Amino acid sequence: MFLALGKASGSCSLWGHVGVTGAPALWAGDPAGQARPGPVSRGRASLFGKPRRTWLHPPRSSDPAKSSRESAGGRARESAAAAARAPGLPPSQPVLAGLPSRRVSPRERRLRVSARSRSGGAEKWAGAGHRPLNSPLPSCLGRRRVRLRSSAEIPSVGPLRFLFQVFVRGYALQMHQLQVLNKAKYGPMWISHLGPKKHVNLASAPLLEQVMRQEGKYPVRNDMEQWKEHRDQHGLAYGPFTTEGQHWYRLRHALNQRLLKPAEAALYADALNEVIDDFMTRLDQLRAESATGDEVPNVAHLFYYFALEAISYILFEKRIGCLERSIPEDTVAFVRSVGLMFQNSIYATFLPKWTRSLLPFWKNYLDGWNVIFSFGKKLIDEKLKEVEAQLQAGGPDGAQVSGYLHFLLTSGQLSPRDTMGSLPELLMAGVDTTSNTLTWALYHLSKNPEIQAALHEEVVGVVPAGQVPQHKDFAHMPLLKAVLKETLRLYPVVPINSRVIMEKEIEVGGFLFPKNTQFVLCHYVVSRDPSIFSEPESFQPYRWLKNSQPDAHRIQHPFGSVPFGYGVRACLGRRIAELEMQLLLARLLQQYEVVLAPGTGELKSVARIVLVPNKKVGLRFLKRQH
Ligand code: HEM
Repeated sequence: MFLALGKASGSCSLWGHVGVTGAPALWAGDPAGQARPGPVSRGRASLFGKPRRTWLHPPRSSDPAKSSRESAGGRARESAAAAARAPGLPPSQPVLAGLPSRRVSPRERRLRVSARSRSGGAEKWAGAGHRPLNSPLPSCLGRRRVRLRSSAEIPSVGPLRFLFQVFVRGYALQMHQLQVLNKAKYGPMWISHLGPKKHVNLASAPLLEQVMRQEGKYPVRNDMEQWKEHRDQHGLAYGPFTTEGQHWYRLRHALNQRLLKPAEAALYADALNEVIDDFMTRLDQLRAESATGDEVPNVAHLFYYFALEAISYILFEKRIGCLERSIPEDTVAFVRSVGLMFQNSIYATFLPKWTRSLLPFWKNYLDGWNVIFSFGKKLIDEKLKEVEAQLQAGGPDGAQVSGYLHFLLTSGQLSPRDTMGSLPELLMAGVDTTSNTLTWALYHLSKNPEIQAALHEEVVGVVPAGQVPQHKDFAHMPLLKAVLKETLRLYPVVPINSRVIMEKEIEVGGFLFPKNTQFVLCHYVVSRDPSIFSEPESFQPYRWLKNSQPDAHRIQHPFGSVPFGYGVRACLGRRIAELEMQLLLARLLQQYEVVLAPGTGELKSVARIVLVPNKKVGLRFLKRQH
């Protein structure tokens, strides 16, 4: 899906993408870093300001999702306890390294030295009133007094080193592997720099939990600067990815309707099944054209067109011909433009602005967006005309609200301009996400025939071959859901996400960060954390089924794998995406046994914003005998 090259993160992040250059500098929000008067900041030292030695009672969280935290609290505490056993800073990392000695009283220095020598190092010093970096939520501390640590203790990757890693060592398309490397080297928290900006990278589930549970009413990912530049140049409204604050809240409130809840997503099952009928026909055509009569040489490509057709039909109520033998020219141009925009966005993000008039990247990037928006505009204009015609024919009650766009345009909550700014963003979000997840899922099912056989049995046990699965059927297909969860654990569509906590200072991992701190959430490495998931590199859907895994006693941390994000800013299309993938997989498994085509071999993932296979995935679809 989209592409976010998170400049903010000093890394590529879907959401961060493109972004962040104009983000408030990490430490800018609290210029002097001074503790503020008032109940929250009183007595606290701001990490990036003058580090005063202070003590605090951890604040009672102002978490808006309090109830969900409470329900997850037991699991969180247990899993956090498990995670706390994981290494924090590497033993070689002196915990107090870098703490400016002039700010430490001689008495405290003496105490620290004696504490370290008594305890033998970092872990024990942290235990003496401090917490390891991946320690659980502040709430776990109860009313204990805790001394916050200095940012100087956090390991740091300098700007030159980062550029070296990305452009010389070739991590530009391996940003997810860079998380693995950095976590192994620095532990679960490190600071990266890009230019003057600092980003706090978090690579353990308890740390992610601490940030995400403290977000406010209007969570911010990053400033999405390059996306906004395009919208500004063309006078377009911002959509859900690009906008913030109250405008975002209003937009989300309107867009959530008819999309967010499972029951609302269920309304689109018939539309999705109609697209799936055409997909199955197209699949059979491609099989028939192959040398073996059953092979699709590039399933990711086929799923891409399927996902585009499906989301367009849901959003715009219009079929756009992606599954026809001959795809309409404007659809082909749209697909090409999405590629153009993504491919160029990495350069548009990282190269300095003065290069824009000299190099082709920025222009290509904008051209890509322009085609994407004109494609959306055409579909919206058509729908507006249709609604107008209905109104003229039938008076104020004449418009028959049918699908999503129709609803948005007639509900009176979104102007046509806002709709125009939002729907292309939804369209972009709805294609690479589901298509790549489907590709990875089928790849792993092909490599694990016994899991595939069990899944086939489950599916036909609920919906026998020849019948079309419906939304209600998936309540009886736990393994199918587990396969998708496991796929998204291994290949989180957004391997790097981010949050800027704008409204308040925030305590994370025993450090107090000022307002506007940019946190980079390293989901890829977290969802492969061996302290949370046993044999984390292997595909084991059964781990998601209660009581059916050998180590069922293990408690998975609620933030170990959060592929759709968290809180009020979580994925808008989650329920649609789940339904779409379940309907398609169920139908495929009803009818085919899927095996790897010779020559496909082992796949690796490449971070082209989403995690995509490093080569074409050829699969054979062997018709099942019913
Ligand atoms: C496998 C499928 C998908 C996955 C794994 C996925 C994942 C995500 C994630 C991780 C986020 C960021 C959440 C956060 O920051 O907490 C997100 C945001 C979003 N997703 Fe999805 N997504 C998927 C499919 C879709 C689809 C089909 C749509 C379109 C209908 C969609 C629309 C959006 C939108 C509009 C946002 C931005 C929400 C906001 O900022 O308010 N996604 N998605």
